[in-house]
Amino acid sequence: MTRKLKPIVKVSDELKKMLNDAIAIEIAASVQYMWQYVQAMGVKGKAVAGKFKETAIAEMKQAEELAERLWYLNGTPTTQLAPIKVGESLKEFLELDKKMEEEGIRLYRKIIDQAQKEGDVITAFMIKEILEVEEEHHDLFTTMLEEV
Ligand SMILES: [Fe+2]
Repeated sequence: MTRKLKPIVKVSDELKKMLNDAIAIEIAASVQYMWQYVQAMGVKGKAVAGKFKETAIAEMKQAEELAERLWYLNGTPTTQLAPIKVGESLKEFLELDKKMEEEGIRLYRKIIDQAQKEGDVITAFMIKEILEVEEEHHDLFTTMLEEV
């Protein structure tokens, strides 16, 4: 794909790589949660399955948002995903999901620092909003874990 426009913001390859790492996590999370939705069994599993689906869709939207920003910054969104671990019980689903969110949260904090250092305030602002949603997901999984 040829690029017609030069972005007004120039960022380092390091920051672009970090955005791609985030895309890899978000898409992996999306698949992980969606397959957990499909595989959720038992009364408890069925009761909360919708939360997995809802979160899976939210992660895919975040991946799309990140990919758009990265593309604008002259990067190419990756197709290499972070490891996907679905798990075999509701408790295991939630433990894996909590870890996935923690990984994302750690990375988003680093991206915010890096983007600010490079004067890319829009990426920093965008990631702050994504981080807020990730903290909500983390909170959701943690709360659900207490109930299983
Ligand atoms: Fe999330």
